[in-house]
Amino acid sequence: MNKDLTQLEILTELEPVAEANLNRHLSMAKDWHPHDYVPWDEGRNFAAMGGVDWAPEQSKLNEVAKAAMITNLLTEDNLPSYHREISESFSMDGAWGTWVGRWTAEENRHGIVMRDYLVVTRGIDPVALEEARMIHMTQGVRSPDNWGGFLVNVAYVTFQELATRVSHRNTGRVCNDPIADRMLQRIATDENLHMIFYRNLCGASLDLAPDQAMEAIANTVTFFVMPGYGMPNFRRNGVLMAKHGIYDLRQHLEEVVQPVLKKWNIFERNDFGARGEAAREHLGVFLEKLAGDVLKFEEQRDRMFARDAARGIMQPV
Ligand SMILES: [Fe+2]
Ligand SMILES: [Fe+2]
Repeated sequence: MNKDLTQLEILTELEPVAEANLNRHLSMAKDWHPHDYVPWDEGRNFAAMGGVDWAPEQSKLNEVAKAAMITNLLTEDNLPSYHREISESFSMDGAWGTWVGRWTAEENRHGIVMRDYLVVTRGIDPVALEEARMIHMTQGVRSPDNWGGFLVNVAYVTFQELATRVSHRNTGRVCNDPIADRMLQRIATDENLHMIFYRNLCGASLDLAPDQAMEAIANTVTFFVMPGYGMPNFRRNGVLMAKHGIYDLRQHLEEVVQPVLKKWNIFERNDFGARGEAAREHLGVFLEKLAGDVLKFEEQRDRMFARDAARGIMQPV
């Protein structure tokens, strides 16, 4: 029976793949500047500087757009936690280290541009936003006990980058502001490139250590939660976002999980041993249940919309 590869062995074996994908990323990524995406002439001082403090009627965003913007921005804000996770389980040496630094610097732009946009346009209450950021960042991101290590983290960030891409893009659509839409599309393009890096590295791990990587992937998909878990109002905002198609179960299954699994040929591979086979089977059962849950969620949502319409309640988008 083959011995498991250690994390160091995996990182060492995959260093050339990391280097090739880092170079690919650098050749594809376009530089952009957060200040180019913010309508500065809409800005004015707050009371501390002789102006007017925020009031709800100043926001042009509907409730769904607000919930999605806050959730997505607080998620981006927690970058120090993600940096810690990634730098601990990848490595700070060679191409791995260059990637971790570059990726962190790119991610930081997302929080910068979204916050600037929201404060300048008065889209959301800046005091409530700051209070939520303090709570969320103080708490940080904690991996569950069965997580950690390179394989689980590289699988997780593959799905998570794609999930944030979907969420940012759909948030742009509900803002009813071409400036916000353009900004969020710009961020979504970054997230897609990040996803490709991690997806390629996770794919290479599958070729290198099929059983170990398959177990990590099955674990990740079956326990997946968005990284914003635990932030103030996460559940309320998440439900609102799901009901209005910013990020719902069908999108999670069909636009995030399935395309990535297909790219890795998970259900066509024949290089698994008993452990890999068992993990793949476990994943297959989970996906069937998820497909059932998608239908249940949509029936519930449609019933609720019908009830609201009968009572004359307009949906916020
Ligand atoms: Fe991001
Ligand atoms: Fe990203």
